[in-house]
Amino acid sequence: MTRRAVAIGVGHYLPERVVPNAEFEKTLDTTSEWIKSRSGIERRHFAAPGQNTSDLAAHAANAALDMAGLNGNDVDAIVVATSTADLTFPSAATMVQAKIGNTKGYAFDIQAVCAGFAFALTNANALIVSGQADRVLVIGAETFSRLLDWDDRGTCVLFGDGAGAIVLKAEEQSGTNEDRGVLTAHLHSDGRYKEKLYVDGGPGSTSTVGHVRMEGREVFRHAVVNIAEAIEEALAATGFTADDIDWFVPHQANKRILDATAKRIGLAPEKVVITVGEQGNTSAASVPLALDAAVKDGRIKRGDLVLLEAMGGGFTWGSALVRW
Ligand code: ACO
Repeated sequence: MTRRAVAIGVGHYLPERVVPNAEFEKTLDTTSEWIKSRSGIERRHFAAPGQNTSDLAAHAANAALDMAGLNGNDVDAIVVATSTADLTFPSAATMVQAKIGNTKGYAFDIQAVCAGFAFALTNANALIVSGQADRVLVIGAETFSRLLDWDDRGTCVLFGDGAGAIVLKAEEQSGTNEDRGVLTAHLHSDGRYKEKLYVDGGPGSTSTVGHVRMEGREVFRHAVVNIAEAIEEALAATGFTADDIDWFVPHQANKRILDATAKRIGLAPEKVVITVGEQGNTSAASVPLALDAAVKDGRIKRGDLVLLEAMGGGFTWGSALVRW
């Protein structure tokens, strides 16, 4: 028998305000069509003033707990993947902990930018497999709008705000590829690429929050290669092939990256879950937001083999295979 981390609930939250591409035409030298054709993005949600990452995260967490039939105090650990915590400290996770009424568990943030959910899921899986926790709430939540330079047309049109959450529960399984739960997970980072994608401020350097800076074309190039390698790693570790994958739930950075990755690994386009058009790039929130969409609309069903991947600044990247 093998201890596995099985997903028993999923939830999401998107802020009310929807911003279509046309909004950017008023202030920037850009067009709706340019944004759509280069990224696949048509609109995104932005948080209201005073609405912070932990607020979005708590809404998503409560939705996931509801689906799991649990209360906030039923989880042993809360892991929030974010680069946009409300404050420099304490963590967004401890704020979520208070908001969902959890006092028995422990909570912490994970910072791997757009790859954050892959890192959070992998670490939550390790907590469960090692016996440190029986139930873990894993959240990806961002208010990336707070990091954007509204004069930089190369970045500010690409991102959005939102949160997604899943509840993982320890279950004894047979130890085969037919098990439910996280079957394999693979993480990577390479800090030599900081200049390609970073925020030009922080508490330890400028004492400011800073703005996103990105060499878009370079990030694109690395993303396709790194993501494909991480996926091949997950397939090799389990012996599955691309044909075995029921659903591909990638980080939603750019539709062209998703299309190129699916093609590179030989995945049929209809197996790719795509939310980037409606949500933009929500960084660490994008994978659980896409997961939630595909579970709630009935595409992902119990027993399906789901491939997750993400890549972000650092660079950081990773993949996981999960049987739903
Ligand atoms: N409107 C109009 N023109 C624009 C805009 C805009 N909003 N933004 C940039 N341009 C211009 C550029 O200035 C450039 O002009 P130039 O040729 O006169 O210098 C031209 O468009 C082409 O720019 P490129 O950057 O080469 O355009 P590209 O086709 O690569 O698309 C994009 C840009 C969308 C940023 C793309 O490179 C991309 O998506 N890269 C990946 C970045 C990403 O996903 N980052 C997210 C974080 S990391 C992650 O999540 C994986």
